[in-house]
Amino acid sequence: MMSTAVMTHRLDLNSAADKALKAAARFWFVVAVIGQFAFAFSVASFYGLTALRGNFQAWNKILANGYEAGATMGNTALAGHILFATVISIAGALQLIPGIRNRFPAFHRWNGRMFVLAAFTQAITGIYLTVSGRRLVGDVTQHVVSVLGAVLIMFCAGMALRYAMARDFTTHRRWALRLFLVASGSWFIRLGFTLTLILFGPIGFDQTTFSGPLLTFWTFAQYLLPLGALELCLRAQDRPGALRRVVTAGVLFVLTLAMGAGIAAVTIGSWVPNVKAAFDTRKSMAQILSATIASSGIDAAAKQYRDLKAAAPATYNFDENELNNLGYQLIRVNKFKEAIRIFQLNIEAYPQSGNVYDSLAEGYMDDGDKALAVANYQKSLELNPKNHNAVLMLEKLKAR
Ligand code: HEM
Repeated sequence: MMSTAVMTHRLDLNSAADKALKAAARFWFVVAVIGQFAFAFSVASFYGLTALRGNFQAWNKILANGYEAGATMGNTALAGHILFATVISIAGALQLIPGIRNRFPAFHRWNGRMFVLAAFTQAITGIYLTVSGRRLVGDVTQHVVSVLGAVLIMFCAGMALRYAMARDFTTHRRWALRLFLVASGSWFIRLGFTLTLILFGPIGFDQTTFSGPLLTFWTFAQYLLPLGALELCLRAQDRPGALRRVVTAGVLFVLTLAMGAGIAAVTIGSWVPNVKAAFDTRKSMAQILSATIASSGIDAAAKQYRDLKAAAPATYNFDENELNNLGYQLIRVNKFKEAIRIFQLNIEAYPQSGNVYDSLAEGYMDDGDKALAVANYQKSLELNPKNHNAVLMLEKLKAR
């Protein structure tokens, strides 16, 4: 028979393991909510403020298939997708806060309906944007998994709703958690991809086509990693064994630290610059030049750039990334010669930037001029010896 001392010891161990698992889950949740709100704020301010100013072209700084004048269906789907990206991030986080759930059940029910509606909207508009893309970034695997991800989101939303209506709240809670995680896939991929890009370098990542092994990995991991971690936690909670719970708590704690690092990386790298751009009232040079290239050609655009810079430097946005982004937009529609001219203009303005030489090199590479591509990647490396992309591209070009 087990002695009282041994039994007490076991009980102590079990309760310590329970506490560790609960603390790790709470820590994960607090970090996730902060990150979701940061994402929602950046999306709402960037797309919202630029839309209020009527500058829908600014969306194309981020999007490959952004706003297109006259494309009513595509623009509506995009606007709906972006609006509900904010809704889903806020509603999802509020839905999981236990204090709100327990004290305001009516709010929980309405917010839950809103979350499910946002999940379906995101999934359907996401599929539409994927299949109707004029020049989709990413490869076939990414597109297929995106569509499967959308189906998974709708499936989890349906299951969460079904068990809520059946008043089986234990099963409902599990499906709601799964829904929260799969609906956050688009958020996870941003964190994971940015963090691993910083840690391991681009690993074959092609900025123009937006593909490569790292992105392929995250395309799957955005759904499988969080779902796997959740199943681990649920099993640890359901089954006996203090050790299982302590190990799970440790794994969750480490994953949360990585998630926090990812949130910090995307916040610094994308969300803060997007919020800054949203509050920047200077006129976008990329937008102005893009219209001039379309109507009067690249020579007129180059002249306009120089004239405006001389006449009103504070009224227009002459930041490095304006022309850099415009150049990449031109590359994506195979206007390589125009892209090269735009990158050259940028070099005139920022002759010490390794990044603009890297972009010019890419323009030459896509235009089939190997010698100038190599020369500009070398110049970029000279200015920025840490430019990992230039090293990879030089290796690739030399192997040709
Ligand atoms: C459910 C949560 C989702 C959220 C919160 C979300 C959020 C966003 C946001 C904020 C954008 C604008 C780009 C940016 O600012 O980074 C975007 C674009 C896009 N999303 Fe989603 N999304 C979700 C689900 C999906 C799904 C399931 C799909 C595919 C089936 C999808 C496909 C797309 C596409 C194709 C674009 C346009 C990309 C481009 O043109 O560059 N999204 N999404």
